[in-house]
Amino acid sequence: MHTLTRIRAAGYLIILATAGALSVPLTAYAQGDAAAGEKVFAHCAPCHSTKPGEKKFGPSLAGVFGRKSGTEPGYTYSSALKDQNVTWDEANLDAWLQGPGKFVRGTKMIYSVPDEKDRQDVIAYLKTLPK
Ligand code: HEC
Repeated sequence: MHTLTRIRAAGYLIILATAGALSVPLTAYAQGDAAAGEKVFAHCAPCHSTKPGEKKFGPSLAGVFGRKSGTEPGYTYSSALKDQNVTWDEANLDAWLQGPGKFVRGTKMIYSVPDEKDRQDVIAYLKTLPK
């Protein structure tokens, strides 16, 4: 009788613990997780280096957070992105990564990140890249 009560209580505890664990990623999610973002960046890496000044098909993303769009020296941007004149921050990177062609009509970047969490994570990762 007592054992049964204890098992039930333990069961409730497990349910509570699971609910608690689930709410953790939801809180972290809004800010983005740079470590998870580094994994998402594997999709960007074929076109983007994280080393300053190293260009691939796309410009280096070292120090891109806080940089003016289309201004990495030595990289030939589309005139569309050069004319965009935004300073990259959370909000416009989020819009850009949802659909570069929608955010900047005529851009050369055709890759998008439809998943909300992946976008927040990769933006958090971009913030960690020094110039
Ligand atoms: C298929 C190649 C390709 C992939 C994959 C790609 N990009 Fe790009 N990206 C480009 C190109 C090309 C440009 C330059 C666009 C232009 O000049 O219009 C660019 C530009 C950018 C810029 C603007 C840089 C600046 O200096 O203004 C950011 C930010 C960016 N990409 C982030 C990302 C992120 C983050 C990912 C991965 C989630 C990614 N890109 C994946 C090709 C790519």
